Amino acid sequence: MSALEIRTICCIGAGYVGGPTMAVIADKCPQIQVIVVDLNEARIADWNNPNFERLPVYEPGLSAVLKRVRGKNLHFSTEVNAAIKDAEMIFISVNTPTKTKGLGAGQASDLRWVEACARQVAQYAQGNTIVVEKSTLPVRTAAVIKAILEASQQDKSTEGNNCNFSVLSNPEFLAEGTAIQNLESPDRVLIGGEDKDSIESLATIYANWVPEEKILRTNLWSSELSKLTANAFLAQRISSINAVSSICEKTGADVREVATAIGSDSRIGPNFLQAGPGFGGSCFQKDILNLVYLCHHFGLSEVANYWESVVQLNNWQKERISKLVIQKLFGTVTGKKLAILGFAFKANTNDTREAPAIKIAKDLLEEGAQLAIFDPKVSSSQITFCLQSDEYIPPIASTKAINTGLNDEGKWWSSKSIEDALNGADAVLIITEWDHFRSLNWQSLATLMRKPAWVFDTRGVVIPNEILKAGLKLWRIGDGVN
Ligand code: NAD
Ligand code: UGA
Repeated sequence: MSALEIRTICCIGAGYVGGPTMAVIADKCPQIQVIVVDLNEARIADWNNPNFERLPVYEPGLSAVLKRVRGKNLHFSTEVNAAIKDAEMIFISVNTPTKTKGLGAGQASDLRWVEACARQVAQYAQGNTIVVEKSTLPVRTAAVIKAILEASQQDKSTEGNNCNFSVLSNPEFLAEGTAIQNLESPDRVLIGGEDKDSIESLATIYANWVPEEKILRTNLWSSELSKLTANAFLAQRISSINAVSSICEKTGADVREVATAIGSDSRIGPNFLQAGPGFGGSCFQKDILNLVYLCHHFGLSEVANYWESVVQLNNWQKERISKLVIQKLFGTVTGKKLAILGFAFKANTNDTREAPAIKIAKDLLEEGAQLAIFDPKVSSSQITFCLQSDEYIPPIASTKAINTGLNDEGKWWSSKSIEDALNGADAVLIITEWDHFRSLNWQSLATLMRKPAWVFDTRGVVIPNEILKAGLKLWRIGDGVN
C-alpha cells in the first residue's frame, strides 16, 4: 500500500475518546472530512444537540472546539456502514470493558465490540483502507483484526472488488477533564504498525499540530503493550502514595509533605502523587486486570501478582475510608444523614465509571446511612445507575431519575446544592476534588449540620484551620494529626 494522503476519516465509537479526539483532528485538519458514528442513537443525538452545554461528554474546552467544526468537517451519525464505505482511514474507538462472564471473566477485556467493528469494516470498506486501533486492547489484538480483514479481502477480490487493509495501533493517552489540552499538546503520539506507508499516512495527520519528535513509531505489539504499561505505571504510583497515606495517618507524618519531598527528586517527579480515595475511571483497573490476564496466559504468575496488588491496594483504600467514617461516627451510621460531595471519578468530568464514590456510598448504604449526594456535573439518573447496578455502567446514561434508596434502611438522593446536602447532616465526605470544594464557607455550612459534625476530606482539599475554627471535626487523607 503506498502512502495515502487522507481526506476522509470515520471513527466508530462516539464516547469519551471518539468524540473529543475526532473533534481535535477535525479542528487541526480542515482539509479532512471526519465522521463519528455510533450505534447509540441517543448519544449521537446528544452530540448533534444545538445546545453546546448539553453534549454527552463534559470536558473543559470541548464545546469551543465543536462550535468551530461541527457541521463543517466534523459530523456525528448512526449510519455506520455508509461511513465505513466512504472512509480512507477508520478509527476503532469502542468500549473494551472487563469481561463479566466466560473465559477470563473479571480480568480479560471483552473484545466483542471490537470484533463486531472489524467484521463491519471487512464487509463495507472499499479500496485501500487503514484501520486504526484507538481503543485500548490486549497485546496482539491487531492480529485478530488483521485475520478478520484478510479473510474478507480474499472474498472481495474473487468478486472483483479489490480491497487492501492495513492495521495500525494508535493508543490514546488523554485523561478525562484535560482531554482537549492533552489532545492539542500531547506528550507523545504513538503509532505502531507493519506497513511504513500507512504509519506515515497517520503520522502526517498528527504532524498538522504535533511536533515531529513527539510522534513515535514502533512495532504493533510495542504500541499495544505501551498503552497497558503506561496505565499500569500511573495506577501503581497512586496505589503507592495511597499506601503511604495510611502510614502517615499512623505515624504523624503528612502525605502532602511526603509527596512534595519525594516528588522533588527529579527521578521520581511531582505528578501523580496525590493521595485520595483510590483511583477510579474506566481504564486503570480494567487495563491492569487485562495485563494480569495476559501475564497468567504467558505463564508469568509472579508478574501477574505484582500488578494485581496495585488493584488490591486500591480496593482496600476505598474500603478503609468507609470503615473509618463508620468508626468515627460512634460505630454506626444507621439513620444518620451524610453528605457526599462529588460523585464523578475525578474533577472536571461527568464520568462515574469505577468512581470511588460508588463503593464508598454502597458501603455506607449497606450500614443504613441516608446519603445526600451533590455533584456539579453528574445527573441524578447517572447516580441511580451506579448505585443500583453491579454491572458495567454505560458512561453516558440517558434514563430518567428514579431517586430511590438501595434498600429499606439505607437511602440516597441527589441534592441540588451543597447547603441542601449538608443540612442536618452528621458528616460530609468530600470524594471528588472539584475546585469549588476548596473554598467553601465552612463557618456558615457548619451551622447547618448536626453536632458533633465531621468533615472527611478524602482528597486533601480543605484548609484544616477553617474546619476546626468552624467547630467541625476533621479527618483528612494521609494526615497524621487525624
Ligand atoms: P465509551 O463507552 O465512552 O464509548 C464507546 C462507544 O462505542 C459507545 O458509545 C458505544 O455505543 C460505541 N460502540 C460500541 N460498539 C459499537 C459498534 N459496533 N458500532 C458503533 N458504535 C459502537 O468508551 P471510551 O471511554 O470512549 O473508551 C473507548 C476506548 O478508549 C476504550 O478501549 C478505552 O479503554 C480507551 N480509552 C479511554 C480513555 C478515556 O479517558 N475514557 C482514554 C484512553 C483510552
Ligand atoms: C488515565 C490516564 O491518566 C490517561 O493517560 C489514559 O489515557 C486514561 O486513563 C485511559 O486510558 O483511560 P483518566 O482515568 O481519565 O486517565 O484520569 P487520571 O487523571 O489518570 O485519574 C485516574 C484516577 O486516579 C482518578 O480517580 C483520579 O482522581 C486518581 N488520581 C490521579 C489520584 O488519586 N491521584 C493522583 O495523583 C492522580
